[in-house]
Amino acid sequence: MEDESSETRKRARVAILELANMISVPMSLNAVVRLNVADAIWQGGTNSPLSASEILARIHPSGGDPENLQRILRMLTSYGVFAEHLNADAIERKYSLTEIGKTLVTDGEGLSYAPYVLQHHQDALMRAWPLVHEAVLDSTTEPFVKANDEPAYDYYGKRPEMNGLMLKAMSGVSVPFMKAVLKGYSGFQGLERLVDVGGSAGDCLRMILHKYPIVQGINFDLPEVVAKAPNIPGVTHVGGDMFKSIPSADGIFMKWVLTTWTDYECKQIMENCYNALPVGGKLIACEPVLPKDSDDSHRTRALLEGDIFVMTIYRAKGKHRTEEEFKQLGHSVGFSHFQAFYVDYFYSILEFQK
Ligand SMILES: C[S@@+](CC[C@H](N)C(=O)[O-])C[C@H]1O[C@@H](n2cnc3c(N)ncnc32)[C@H](O)[C@@H]1O
Repeated sequence: MEDESSETRKRARVAILELANMISVPMSLNAVVRLNVADAIWQGGTNSPLSASEILARIHPSGGDPENLQRILRMLTSYGVFAEHLNADAIERKYSLTEIGKTLVTDGEGLSYAPYVLQHHQDALMRAWPLVHEAVLDSTTEPFVKANDEPAYDYYGKRPEMNGLMLKAMSGVSVPFMKAVLKGYSGFQGLERLVDVGGSAGDCLRMILHKYPIVQGINFDLPEVVAKAPNIPGVTHVGGDMFKSIPSADGIFMKWVLTTWTDYECKQIMENCYNALPVGGKLIACEPVLPKDSDDSHRTRALLEGDIFVMTIYRAKGKHRTEEEFKQLGHSVGFSHFQAFYVDYFYSILEFQK
């Protein structure tokens, strides 16, 4: 019989309750994004600690329930989104943004990680989550398809507001990452014509061209996506289907695309990339790369959690892969050289050379 008063059992009981209640975390994060709390605290960089009532007065001057806002802020403080400031008698709690919280602040270009949070918690995606176990019992149909009767990209494609949010979400995540890439990786040097496959709004190309103005950029994505993409000097938007063909170039860039597809589909995409490149041409892919160990670091957790997101929303057999799995995919379609560069904790750069 287990001794339920032992430290081990007490720790186990609280840990399983933490896991079982975990849904409060993303849903509260979604709530603070909906309420625009980060911008209200940030106020042009002041980031002065504010009470829930003071925040509420900024985001909803007509009223509301400050106690409930404080409950949310307090919980997210324990996840590092806010810093809590208690006065001497510990009665009044005030909140400022931490480095994590600052990722939700809208920057000068109108970007932040907030649209990514909203994108992940839209009704159509939420309907898929209670069906994760179905991906185990029957992986031929994704939970998203079971919940919504069609694949995610088809679903977004028919709904301009979802497409628009997806574009904003991708820009908000990709721009800071690309700043790090362009500082730590020089593989775009010498390229003359670069296609971004699945380039969304074209932010990655815009930033690459800013550093390498000699490059001619082709932003290639689904027709309904490029139709919404903004004009970018030096970039031509081309609508198409990467499973059919990819415009030719001496370099192909692809970020966060392979992950959402099965091995078979990745080979089709990579084969089309291979065919679009001259001998010596490079496919530069940026993808989440799984570590070998299953530890409890933020990096491993973010990568493993993203893997379940892909399984649930995009492809039941689409997945986050290890470096070796990517290397083998490249070899299988003919790429002779492979090299990985680690300039970020979430995405890695995978260079495949023809
Ligand atoms: C996860 S998003 C990544 C967007 C962008 N590369 C980034 O990292 O910000 C995947 C992109 O692939 C595009 N995509 C999906 N199916 C496609 C297809 N068959 N042909 C071309 N692009 C496709 C989507 O529209 C979307 O923009």
